[in-house]
Amino acid sequence: MSKTATLNFDGNQYELPVVEGSESEQAIDIAKLRGSSGLITIDPGFKNTGSTQSAITFLDGEKGILRYRGYPIEQLAEKSTFLEVAYLLIKGELPTAKELEEYKDSITHHTLVHEDMKQFAEAFPTKAHPMGVLSAMISAMSTFYPESYDPNRDTESVDKTIIRLIAKLPTLAAWAHKNSLGHPIMYPKNKLNYCENFLNMMFAMPTEDYEIDPVVVNALDKLLILHADHEQNCSASAVRLVGSSQSNLYSSISAGVSALWGPLHGGANQAVIEMLEKIKEDGGDVEKWVNKAKDKNDTFRLMGFGHRVYKNFDPRAKIIKKACDDILSKLGVNDPVLDIAKKLEETALKDEYFVARKLYPNVDFYSGIIYRALGIPTEMFTVMFAIGRLPGWIAQWKEMVENKEPIGRPRQVYVGSQERQYPG
Ligand code: ACO
Repeated sequence: MSKTATLNFDGNQYELPVVEGSESEQAIDIAKLRGSSGLITIDPGFKNTGSTQSAITFLDGEKGILRYRGYPIEQLAEKSTFLEVAYLLIKGELPTAKELEEYKDSITHHTLVHEDMKQFAEAFPTKAHPMGVLSAMISAMSTFYPESYDPNRDTESVDKTIIRLIAKLPTLAAWAHKNSLGHPIMYPKNKLNYCENFLNMMFAMPTEDYEIDPVVVNALDKLLILHADHEQNCSASAVRLVGSSQSNLYSSISAGVSALWGPLHGGANQAVIEMLEKIKEDGGDVEKWVNKAKDKNDTFRLMGFGHRVYKNFDPRAKIIKKACDDILSKLGVNDPVLDIAKKLEETALKDEYFVARKLYPNVDFYSGIIYRALGIPTEMFTVMFAIGRLPGWIAQWKEMVENKEPIGRPRQVYVGSQERQYPG
């Protein structure tokens, strides 16, 4: 028999259904509560509210578990590739060898961006933050593919939009970078794989080839896998919410990019490096900065620390910390901020303030140090996150559309003025 929960309010009793997930998570379904009682629930920041039932990613914040479609992140990071993970997230199953080859092939053959988009990209000021450029360009892409306006169109057309997005995002991202330098853009090359192609578009010049280092390619591929999905976070929720109005996939993903940009979300990777640099320039007194983060009168927070869901450790951070050491030693890079990061982590993890609040390093605490070692400029860090997260956003959008979820429209408790008369 299915479980129910009983709510007692004002002398009345309301039976509420309980929904159970495949990992025994339980949730009280309050969808019909207002109809029977006039009550709504309130939960700013959705700290305790499930917005959907999803079959994409499982996350247990207490145990530090993260799985995409049931596969542990540790196994995927070690054995898989980013495009295979993208296929898994979007289609639900791992591809066969043949399916993967076809998938890679179709992505390779859609990496070119319409030439007219070039004028648009070049119109941004050189100092433009690449996340602003990326979000605008993704939204603008819809205007080149009007068939994408209807998200309920045939599967073939939706699949084409998905392939275009995955294929063209690295091209747009590299354009944003080239534009910030005032350099000519580099076109994609079909003989290169996904990560190689991106690195080439970022770093090659018409005057000079870029030597592709397999260590850099593998490190990038791993980072993209680690960022590929994270269930109903701020940007995924933005994608689903925008998409729920039946707005097209490009505009939904553009909203995801905008949500990711903030320093409390994906923008943390840029903020972490800026913080570590600041601490270094200030003399490297880690204790001083930990104390600042604890001071309620100081707005400073330890960037890359804390997570809404992980309250033990972030499994991605564990993998990244190890990868960081490996990659830096393989590339022969000695980054002084790595020592500061390690000292900061050690100090914070022993501190009662951080222990009591269950604040641990998150995925972005060490990722910036790797990006830097790979030669990626700081302002591009969050763009790297966006490239990694794209398959997750697409999978979340697709699930929302296929499940025919209703338009997202929260309620509120109004606390403003009661009716009053306009003077005169
Ligand atoms: N430094 C210092 N104190 C912190 C930090 C931090 N990084 N994070 C949380 N706290 C404190 C809060 O001040 C609060 O203390 P209080 O209970 O005494 O008021 C307590 O810990 C709980 O924090 P909340 O902000 O309520 O937790 P929430 O779940 O809303 O926020 C968040 C989570 C946004 C990630 C937060 O920890 C933070 O701002 N971290 C720094 C930014 C960051 O690294 N973001 C990336 C997250 S991962 C990702 O999105 C990819």
